[in-house]
Amino acid sequence: MNKTIEKIVSLSKRRGFIFQSSDIYGGFSAVYDYGPLGVELKNNISQLWWKEMTQNHENIVGLDSGILMHPKIWEASGHVGAFNDPLVDCKHCNARFKADEFSEEYEKLNWDQVQCPKCGTIGKLTYPRDFNLMFQTNVGPIEDTGTKAFLRPETAQGIYVNYQLVQGTMRLKVPFGIAQIGKAFRNEIIARNFIFRTREFEQMEMQYFVKPGTDDTIMNEWKHKRFEFYLNQLGIKKERLRFHQHGKNELAHYAKEAWDIEYQFPFGWSEIEGIHNRTDYDLSRHQEFSGKNLSYFDQPQNERFVPFIIESSAGLNRMLLTVLADSFWDDKKNKRIVLKLHPLLAPVKAVICPLLKRDGLPEKAREIMDLVKPEFKVVFDQQGSIGKRYYRQDEAGTPFGITVDHQSLEDNTVTLRYRDTQKQIRIDIEKIVSIIKKEINK
Ligand code: GAP
Repeated sequence: MNKTIEKIVSLSKRRGFIFQSSDIYGGFSAVYDYGPLGVELKNNISQLWWKEMTQNHENIVGLDSGILMHPKIWEASGHVGAFNDPLVDCKHCNARFKADEFSEEYEKLNWDQVQCPKCGTIGKLTYPRDFNLMFQTNVGPIEDTGTKAFLRPETAQGIYVNYQLVQGTMRLKVPFGIAQIGKAFRNEIIARNFIFRTREFEQMEMQYFVKPGTDDTIMNEWKHKRFEFYLNQLGIKKERLRFHQHGKNELAHYAKEAWDIEYQFPFGWSEIEGIHNRTDYDLSRHQEFSGKNLSYFDQPQNERFVPFIIESSAGLNRMLLTVLADSFWDDKKNKRIVLKLHPLLAPVKAVICPLLKRDGLPEKAREIMDLVKPEFKVVFDQQGSIGKRYYRQDEAGTPFGITVDHQSLEDNTVTLRYRDTQKQIRIDIEKIVSIIKKEINK
């Protein structure tokens, strides 16, 4: 693994952001658990996305559909037939690779002459064979073909099969959107780069239903809107973001046009989000497989059509890794690691520290905790030297340190320390909430 990613992995464990799943059993590959700070950060990111979609857009509403759905849905969606990774195995060292890692045009390769990237043997790789990425399970106590179900590999299908119910109950008019955040599962062959590619992950997807013919323009609008979200709302560095358009060979089976928003991770440029023009592919297929009419009636125009769908599909875990990588700062001058998280995203907004464990300082600090606690997440810390306490919180991304000293008992003031500059100012206790709130909402 790349050195910076190694440092991020280690910090994530040390500070309670992310743990390897089933650690006491030796771990479970490509699944991760989110610790106390990780879950706060994840919630802050997903709330920002949810607000952007469902609050900033009057015509986008939310949904929370099931992970298990009727198995026919996955036949209709094409995931049973086409959601495959072509794989090659090395007969010499048993290593397994995705065929498209060798070449985008892997079908044209002469596999008898290709070298195994692991053991270096030539001519021992098998020809590509398809492997379906969906996890299968059984519903009910008896295992037979009638009870087969899949863990959803994307949240999108839950939106498509509910679209008419949502549209009807909310009296929505095209164009409108449905947003959903939820778990998705893929039996990834090659899971790597920490939480970047895992077998269980969370998606934040918004499906935008549009009139055919307006799809190209609306696709373009969403492409730019989504890019702006990373820049202006998540605060990601501009030079580390770019678009990548899918070539013909890369397009998913449902897509007419697709753009990835990529981030320059320590291991290279990689996708965080896809914006896809899925045309009427999904709704038409569900129409065909369910036998239900899934068209939309446009009353003012007196016409009926199957809407086209423009999709914004982001991975919450990848977005979190983006935020971690972008905010990671090895402050060599001050010999500290800092997560320069925006106060809005930071899991904890402030640490409250009595300078000493005596003289009534802890009691005064507790009074301040009670004052601030209802407003935002704060922690109390009286262990170790004040410098060590600050550095611990710098690693956790906590933007403010509040220190209670003897002067606090006399004049009701504290010192407020800023994480990035380490600047300290003296402020009245009653101003703490408004000052920090201002920074959170900046
Ligand atoms: N509904 C469309 C769809 O699922 P995708 O490009 O396969 O499209 C969308 O996935 C996003 O989901 C990706 O950009 C990525 O952020 C996230 N994602 C996909 N597979 C993932 C995995 N194995 N681990 C973590 N995130 C994943």
